[in-house]
Amino acid sequence: MPIDNQNIEKKIEIKDIPVMPQVATKVLQLQEDNLDISFKELEKIILLDPAITARILKVANSALYARQREIKNVQQAITLLGFKMIKSMILLVCASNIYGKNKKKYKDIPETIITKSSAMDLWRHLVLTAFIARHIAVKLKLDDKKEDIFVCGLLHDIGRVVLMVNQTDLYGEFLKEMANNPNADVLMIEENYFGYNHLEVGKIVLGKWNFPEELIDVVFQHHSKNADSPYKKSINIVALANLYARILVNEQLSVADAENRDGYVRTLALSESDNEYYSAEFLQDIQNEDLYNISTELE
Ligand SMILES: [Fe+2]
Repeated sequence: MPIDNQNIEKKIEIKDIPVMPQVATKVLQLQEDNLDISFKELEKIILLDPAITARILKVANSALYARQREIKNVQQAITLLGFKMIKSMILLVCASNIYGKNKKKYKDIPETIITKSSAMDLWRHLVLTAFIARHIAVKLKLDDKKEDIFVCGLLHDIGRVVLMVNQTDLYGEFLKEMANNPNADVLMIEENYFGYNHLEVGKIVLGKWNFPEELIDVVFQHHSKNADSPYKKSINIVALANLYARILVNEQLSVADAENRDGYVRTLALSESDNEYYSAEFLQDIQNEDLYNISTELE
């Protein structure tokens, strides 16, 4: 069903949309057809934002990279880590900032209401989904798309983040309801509580941030079983990664979600051993990923 942006905007107060640093939007819009120019452009964009520059250098020097040599400037970071990795890193840092700024607010939610789906669990869910989606992309030989798919995974539930940040009390009630009805349709319950679901909210927020069309469409359709979209493959990958990310934290999938998972596995032509890998061992293997270690430091 096509969504009428204007109608949704009426329901969501614009002032409540979190601010995404300009650096993220600019980096996502950067073309990579001429790598020499792109590298210089990327450096310029990063340097415009001192806070991001500092974070990039800090994370570039942390984890495994520290063993090689100290990265003293942004140019070195780009050369060593690569354009796409830096892009993912910037998005990771910017997305974590949106959570970080509201940490105090989350503390107001009584612990008893927020159990599994607390703010940090949602952040971890997004990070895990991003890494699984990227891994699946590589498995399917979509190497040139892997970082874009990573960003889609990272932001797929940005609508939930906005709901949580804007309507914290109501969000706590919503989580309670979800915990009591694990088989319920999450989109329907969201509509009951908030008047709109997290897919609609995500679409509006990413549109406001001027993010690329593919990213917006993947986020908007990550609950669609048969998405009608030129980005269908990316949608299926993120949708499947989302389900694996839930399985990996021992969440029991509803019957419908388990069927969806099987459907995505078939559509993407993944094997049974792939399916088993993403449902269990992946969590162990990911601990060796540089960027994953970085992301846990951002919590
Ligand atoms: Fe979702």
